[in-house]
Amino acid sequence: MTRVLVLNGPNLGRLGSREPDVYGHQDLDALRQLLLTNAPEGYDVEVRQTDDESELIGWLHSAVDERTPVILNPAAFTHYSYGLRDAAALVTRAGLALIEVHISNPHARETFRHTSVISAVATGVIAGFGFDGYRLALEQLSRISTTL
Ligand code: DQA
Repeated sequence: MTRVLVLNGPNLGRLGSREPDVYGHQDLDALRQLLLTNAPEGYDVEVRQTDDESELIGWLHSAVDERTPVILNPAAFTHYSYGLRDAAALVTRAGLALIEVHISNPHARETFRHTSVISAVATGVIAGFGFDGYRLALEQLSRISTTL
C-alpha cells in the first residue's frame, strides 16, 4: 500500500460551519470519507488537521523520513509561513510529491491571499474546486508517483 498524508492547516477543523459560502457545508469527516471512498487502488489515505504550525512542520518531516507523498492545504500558513515552506521543500527535494490544495480560489479573494510562499516548492497546485480538489490531487498523485 502507498500511504498518502492529507494535511490541513489552521481553521480547517471548522469546515462545515466556517464561512460555508466560501468553503461549503461539509466538514473534515466528510472530506475523509470522500477520499477513503475515492482512493485509487493500493492507496492508503490519512487525513489530518492542526492549527499548530510546529505540528504541521513535524508531519512534513515525518513524510520525508517515511517517504510518504503529501497533499497539503496550508490554509492561512500558505501566505506567510517560511518555516512551512522550508519543510515543504524538504519533501519535494527528497523526490516526494507534495500537492498544494485550496478549497477556494485564493486568487479571486483578498489581495493577501494572492501570495503563496508554498507554491514555488510544491509539485503542483490545485485551487478553487472545493473538496474535489483533494480528490483530483489524489488521482494525480497516483499518476505521477511512478515518474517522480
Ligand atoms: C484556504 C485558503 C486560505 O487563504 C485560507 O486562509 C484558508 C483556506 C482554502 O482552502 O481555500 O484557511 O487554504
